[in-house]
Amino acid sequence: MSESSIFSRKSSVNFSPEEITSENIDSIIKASIWAPSSRNKQPWKIIAVRRNSKKFDQLVKSMSAGNQVMANNSGLILIFCTPDESDFSPKTFLDIGFSGQNAMLRATELGLDTHPIGGWDEEKVKSVSNIPDNSRVAFLLIIGKPGKISDLDNELVDKHNKKRERNSLDKNFSFDVWGKDF
Ligand SMILES: Cc1cc2nc3c(=O)[nH]c(=O)nc-3n(C[C@H](O)[C@H](O)[C@H](O)COP(=O)(O)O)c2cc1C
Repeated sequence: MSESSIFSRKSSVNFSPEEITSENIDSIIKASIWAPSSRNKQPWKIIAVRRNSKKFDQLVKSMSAGNQVMANNSGLILIFCTPDESDFSPKTFLDIGFSGQNAMLRATELGLDTHPIGGWDEEKVKSVSNIPDNSRVAFLLIIGKPGKISDLDNELVDKHNKKRERNSLDKNFSFDVWGKDF
């Protein structure tokens, strides 16, 4: 992944209601499955729900209200889940996170926008896509072509204009020992 996609990726709120090409979907999924994983277990189970699928609207309705407005215009929603097991190592979720980041960076390189979301009803998501009881939904990833800001409602315009920030480095990073500002 190029350094530029790391810094140009952002959680976008403005999507254009268009399909994502199969080539782009393939490329994003390929990037996702080439993530590293503990003991190379590749625990990610990824379900791609395309805009033209009859599952799309149902999946959007499983999200919190604010997320629905964003997702409604997207072209593709990826559901990242764990395997069908009752016992999960935290590493499973870590591995799935790496896979999701690969997906976001690849999509960004392809000129697509992304937004990871945790605001959805797990039982509803599972029911829409026949995900087994003993699997956990880790996160959903909204992907789409960039839309027009002029098409957004006021709430999303505010979100779009919100300054993206990061903590000062001392809050999250230290050499050798636990940082004094951790
Ligand atoms: C696991 C996870 C869950 C998230 N859930 C939501 C969500 O439900 N709704 C939302 O608007 N943004 C959600 N976000 C996006 C974060 O708010 C966003 O990544 C953060 O503010 C940093 O902004 P950036 O992604 O533009 O760098 C989520 C991000 C992650 C990684």
